[in-house]
Amino acid sequence: MAVNLGVSRVMLDESAIRDKVRELGAKITNAYKDLDAPLQTVVILKGAVVFAADLLRAIDLPVRLDFMAISSYGKQTSSSGVVRILKDLDAPIEGAHVLIVEDIVDSGLTLKYLIDNLAARGPASVKTCVLLDKPERRQVDIKVDFVGFEIEDEFVVGYGLDFAEKYRNLPYVGVLDPSQAHTD
Ligand code: IMP
Ligand code: MG
Repeated sequence: MAVNLGVSRVMLDESAIRDKVRELGAKITNAYKDLDAPLQTVVILKGAVVFAADLLRAIDLPVRLDFMAISSYGKQTSSSGVVRILKDLDAPIEGAHVLIVEDIVDSGLTLKYLIDNLAARGPASVKTCVLLDKPERRQVDIKVDFVGFEIEDEFVVGYGLDFAEKYRNLPYVGVLDPSQAHTD
């Protein structure tokens, strides 16, 4: 079975992603270079895992890694921004400089929830880094500090992003035609 079934177009190929991740890593390194403590990254499961694996290796600073997994309360209520924590951080972040690493910001509700939730735990700072940004779809005003690519409002998969839990292992970001996608 072809892994790319239903992918109508490659939007960002491997080399474009590689260059951008290197650029983001350099920007983050520069932004935090005077820190006297490790940078605390918080990677949002599962979509940001592939991006984060590459990004972390492009950051030339001491880094700590932790994970959070969240889920929206379903389509009906997702516009309220109410999300459920499926897996919380392993350790407190009080006093830490936190960088949230996420795959994509769409309405912005997920990221807003995460920023507010983490900010309430007494960190020294909270910033955000996303690979992809769909600015047209924004419902809440949030500041994304490090953005890889601004993209059009199309459903994309690959490089960690899924459709029904598949396509995360594509090495590129592609546009999905859901009517042609894997259904199993
Ligand atoms: P937001 O809360 O509307 O900003 O949604 C962000 C979340 O929606 C991301 O973490 C993704 O899981 C998901 N998402 C939004 N757009 C896409 C897409 O084009 N492909 C795959 N997942 C997406
Ligand atoms: Mg996600």
